[in-house]
Amino acid sequence: MSKKTQFASRIGLIAATVGSAVGLGNVWRFPAEVQEGGGAAFLLIYIGCVILLGIPVMLSEFALGRAGHSDAIGALKNVGASKRWWVVGGIAILASYLILSFYMVVAGWTLEYLVQSVTGGLFEPVAGEAGLNSHFTAKMEEYVTTDWPPLIFTFLMIFINLGILLGGVQKGIERMSNIMMPLFFLVLVVFVVVALSLPDAGAGLSFFLRPDFSKITGSTIVSALGQAFFSLSLGMGILITYSAYFSSKVPLVRTAVTVSLLDLLVAIMMGLVIFPAITSFGLDGETIRGASLVFVTLPEVFTHMGMPQLWSILFFFLLAVAALTSTISIAEVSVAFIIDRFHTSRIKACLIVSLPLLPISAVCSLSMGLWSDFTILGMNVFDFLDNFATNILLPVGSILLCIFLGWFAPRNLMYDQLSNHGTIRSRLIPAVIWIVKYLAPVLIAVVLVSTFL
Ligand code: PFF
Repeated sequence: MSKKTQFASRIGLIAATVGSAVGLGNVWRFPAEVQEGGGAAFLLIYIGCVILLGIPVMLSEFALGRAGHSDAIGALKNVGASKRWWVVGGIAILASYLILSFYMVVAGWTLEYLVQSVTGGLFEPVAGEAGLNSHFTAKMEEYVTTDWPPLIFTFLMIFINLGILLGGVQKGIERMSNIMMPLFFLVLVVFVVVALSLPDAGAGLSFFLRPDFSKITGSTIVSALGQAFFSLSLGMGILITYSAYFSSKVPLVRTAVTVSLLDLLVAIMMGLVIFPAITSFGLDGETIRGASLVFVTLPEVFTHMGMPQLWSILFFFLLAVAALTSTISIAEVSVAFIIDRFHTSRIKACLIVSLPLLPISAVCSLSMGLWSDFTILGMNVFDFLDNFATNILLPVGSILLCIFLGWFAPRNLMYDQLSNHGTIRSRLIPAVIWIVKYLAPVLIAVVLVSTFL
């Protein structure tokens, strides 16, 4: 078993793990899901999914990672899993790399928007524009679907990631998270205060916080569970990899609860920013799905707020930090895999992970513009990778992991890890083990099947 470095402090490991969880999933996926799922009713189901399934599945990854003390495949090997179970780690590593290759493109856009906000380019007139909305739509066309600018910023983001990963666990990942995550929360608090004091903020607030249970359908539950898994970074091997850097004293249950609640808090704070902001300026009829929320609707909101450039710099800084701390964590899955399986140096492993990302991300980036005619199953490369990895690989990996830990792993593995070998007593522990064994695989399988119906 290889000797691993560890996070230097509990705050550092929480900052890094929360940094991984808090990402574009919180900023643009969550508000869009809330909007489609009927507001507060979705929020309540989402909270239920985080508590009932998200935290137990997170704990199963923590238990495996810390017991196995290695990368996603090595951890399974080290806890005595037979060879066919290694496929569970293999799926997580494959999913993580595929997700990384398209997420890096979006991370590049956030950097591009940050730079354009600083230079003021985002607000410069576009030829032939007719209104604000078309201004930012035209800007998005320019920044996202042209060939070179998005590519350059994607590459820049890959190199920033490489620089941090080369610094290693303590001096790279942990140090960056310790600086970035408090800044992230600070900027987010500023946005919440400003959004809540906008005129007519109440209408957005009541959509977000007053539940209308008639809106709940089977598909609300399916989307809430999918969102919870994506947002908590489950099934990607990230938490297995990070928990191999946890010391044996870290209380896993308390850590998982803290990380999940902070991730939930960020999602709720994002809702408190976005819904008041869009109702306040009468933009709530617009679709806020995906990229258009952050790259079109919000910049439009900023122009109504006075000092648009300042708000836009702050917001895209927030977004770039969220993206960076997530891409780092997902890239570390492959870096750890290469270091542990092939016994290479960290430098070599970082290069082996980062260099192929250049052409792969370039293909994803160009698939938004120049190569948009090239499709797989009717989707461009970007959307295909997103759907294949997020909707298929993540749930399949999570189901198999729960089945392995619940039924095939050494009997006391979960209990020993969650109780720190009997030194922590909590009624939650048997409940978590029961959920991982019975409830989680069945519910995730239902979600997986229903996405195809
Ligand atoms: N939890 C992350 C998010 O909400 O954005 C999920 C994630 C996606 C992590 C992509 C890392 C990543 F590269």
